[in-house]
This record gives sequence, C-alpha cells and structure tokens, in this order.
Amino acid sequence: MPLTRRSWAEPFKIKVVEPVRLTTPEQRAKALEAAGYNTFLLRSRDVYIDLLTDSGTSAMSDRQWAGMMLGDEAYAGSENYYHLEAAVQNAYGYKHVIPTHQGRGAEHLLSRVLIKPGDIIPGNMYFTTTRLHQEMAGGTFIDAVIPEAHDPASTHPFKGNFDIDKLERILSENPRRVPYICAAATVNMAGGQPISLENLTHVRELADRHKTRIILDATRIAENAYFLQQREPGQKGRPIRAIVRDLANLTDGCTMSAKKDPLANIGGFIGINDDAVAEEISNLVVVFEGLHTYGGMAGRDMEAVAIGIEESLEDDHIRARVGQVEYLGEKLLGWGIPIVLPIGGHGIYLDAKAFLPHIPQSQYPAQALAAALYLDSGVRAMERGAVSAGRDPVSGVERFPKLELVRLTIPRRVYTQAHMDVTAESVYCVYEERHNVRGLKMTYEPRFLRFFQARFAPIN
Ligand code: F0G
Repeated sequence: MPLTRRSWAEPFKIKVVEPVRLTTPEQRAKALEAAGYNTFLLRSRDVYIDLLTDSGTSAMSDRQWAGMMLGDEAYAGSENYYHLEAAVQNAYGYKHVIPTHQGRGAEHLLSRVLIKPGDIIPGNMYFTTTRLHQEMAGGTFIDAVIPEAHDPASTHPFKGNFDIDKLERILSENPRRVPYICAAATVNMAGGQPISLENLTHVRELADRHKTRIILDATRIAENAYFLQQREPGQKGRPIRAIVRDLANLTDGCTMSAKKDPLANIGGFIGINDDAVAEEISNLVVVFEGLHTYGGMAGRDMEAVAIGIEESLEDDHIRARVGQVEYLGEKLLGWGIPIVLPIGGHGIYLDAKAFLPHIPQSQYPAQALAAALYLDSGVRAMERGAVSAGRDPVSGVERFPKLELVRLTIPRRVYTQAHMDVTAESVYCVYEERHNVRGLKMTYEPRFLRFFQARFAPIN
C-alpha cells in the first residue's frame, strides 16, 4: 500500500544533552503553592517540560557555540559588532544597527526617541513590554488589528493583519500625533499569527500618505515569512530569506528580541534607516545599555546572534520549527480541545474561556489552567489573558481582553516529538478533569508587568 504522506525530521542531530527532572504530584503541589500559583515564580529545577516561553530558550548550534569562542570583548569596536551589523543589514536591510541587551531595551530607546507625550501609536495588537514603553514615553497605544484576531475560533489566514479602515481613521483623526505605526510579525498576543505582505503594503501606503513611519517588531519575522510562504498568493516556493526581506523593506525600522527567531539566549537590536533617528538612539544607548558597539551584550553574544540570524532564515529550519508546533496543535485539535486557530508559529494557545467556562474572567481562568497543567505533569506554560493585560494606566481599571489564553510555547530546537506527546496527553488529562479546576484570586499585584511576579491563591 503506498504511503499517503512522508514524514520530515528535524534538520539537526543532538550533540549535547541537558537532563530534566520528573517530579511527584506532591512535590509539584508544594512548588506551585510556594510560587503563588504563578508559573513565572517556579524554579526551573521543578519543571519537567518548560514551555513558558520561546524567549532565550533556544538550543544554539555548534556553529553558534564555536562563534562564542570568537568573542572580541573589547569595550569599543568589537569585531563581533561588525558581524552583527552585517548580518542585520544582509538579512533585513536596515541601514543603521544599534545593539541592545534584549527586545525591551530596543523598545525603550525607540519609544523615548520617537514618542512625545500625547502621541498615539496604532498597532496590530499590543505586546506587554512594547505597550508599556510606549505608555512610559507618554504615548497611548491603540489596537488596530482586524477583529478576527480577537476571536480564537476564527480561521482567518492572516490574523496579524491591520484593519486598514480603522488605521486610516486613527491616522486622519490624529494628524502629526502618530510618530509611527507599530507592526508586529508575528502577533504574539493573538497566538503567533502572521501579517500578510499585501496588508503591510497597504499600511505602507497609509504611512506615506500620512507622513509617518512603520516600526516593525521583527521578533518572529521568519515564522511570519513561513506562513506567507504557505498561504499568501504569490509567495509559494519563494525562499524565507526573500520574504523576510520584503517584509522588512516595507518598514522604516525595527525592534528585535534576538532571543526568539535569531536563536540566541540573549540580545536584541534596533534597525533603523533614518540617519537622524539613528544618531539620537546611538546617543541614548550609551546612557541605558552600553556603548553603541555592544549595547549591553558581550562580544560573544553578538556573534551568536549574528550566526543565529543566518540560521533562522534557512527554509529547512523554519519548516521544522513551525512543523513541531503544528504537530502538537493537531494532536490537541484531534481531541476537540479548544485552541486558537489557525495554529501559530511559536506555540499553541489554549482557549481558557472555552476550556474552563465555569470560571469567570475576574478569577483568571488562564492563570488557573496554567497552574493545573503544571500540577498534572510538570509542564510549565504561561498565562496570556487578564493578568497579562494589566490595568488601564489612566483609570487604573483592570483590562479584561477578549482573549484569555494559556500559551504552550515551544523553544527552538530543544524538545523532541516525545516531549510534544507528553505535553498533549497532559493537556488532555486536565481537559478530562476540567470541572475540578478552581478560579484564583490575586494576593499580590506588582505595579508594572504584573504577570511576571503576581501571586495568587485558589478560591474555595
Ligand atoms: N516583542 C515581542 C513580540 C515579544 O514576544 C517580546 C518578548 C518582546 C517584544 C520583548 O523582548 O523579552 O527580549 O525584552 N516576548 C517574550 C515572550 C518575553 O515570552 O513572549 P525581550
């Protein structure tokens, strides 16, 4: 009988391994209580499969590790900076490259330089650190993503697209008050969803007409390009590298967390075309990050990022990376478990509202679900719902977003198919027992980015 499909395998083999520890249910219950039911506060030694984030958690290649030995740790003019600069220019095409310690360092500097108090920044959905830096610079973020992005069940192929009419309205109503349009590829908070080249081209036309800029959050641009290669008319068969370049070419600059797509454990940068803006950012980087030729990174880390950028653009790599996420998602879908559709680029997002309909959003169902999953198997996931959304900075009222999600985030090149199976089965078991999961109340709320350090207790 002929096979209906042929499997693919990861385009690498394993050279170094890191042991992980299985815990008992009793140990996990203790650890969870000590962590205030917040998976961010667990010790990593108590975690079996760590799907908290894909940020800084990638396995580096032998080439990247070899590059680490070539660290030029000169304070000024490190050779590795020039490798990084060339890699960024080559991959994304931006003229100026300013290194930062990670993505939020880039967001901080860019927001300070471009935003004046009273400004408006429209974007294709918020990201936690990005929006906070915009707000701290005196700006207000306005969501201009298409409505489908807020609906977990919508199968729109480009849920990262801007609502062009809404964006146009925002630009017309706020002349000279929009310093830039913030475009993310992919959109993390919507479930790792792509923006299409066609949509970004429309955004470019609007930006030109209204004399403003587009700043790209390029954190997961290769994953975005993969979805366009699969789905966007005209993109089939084009190399990922070419699609990435097309996306970047439609924008005026980027902030990048090199801890994601670029396969490094730390790092980030700003890419920017405007000479004057680049000069101002270079001035500020020495205040907050470090000299403009290291920006808070060691020379060896810049080398790892430079090599990682190249590796992230290989078609084989990105197919296997997103393919592993799809493998996990398909399994859950097969069991009827509610997840965000279509399956995203860096993780599976469980729809906690549909998973735990008996828990009101004020009792943080996604937080409760992440805790229940850890308790079941030691799999660590992350809340992406009301806790992450925080409070309105002006009114202080809690924001209750439409999306109340738990993210199972897959680190790049780290886990095997068996880890995905164990994870899927744990989600299945929690789903079977979902009526026993109880809501949480917040017992400690930090002022900024509360999801990182908040503490909770179960409601009886
Ligand atoms: N932009 C996006 C879309 C991100 O996902 C992140 C980080 C950042 C910016 C900030 O970069 O962490 O290097 O300072 N996301 C991580 C996550 C934390 O788990 O999704 P950073």
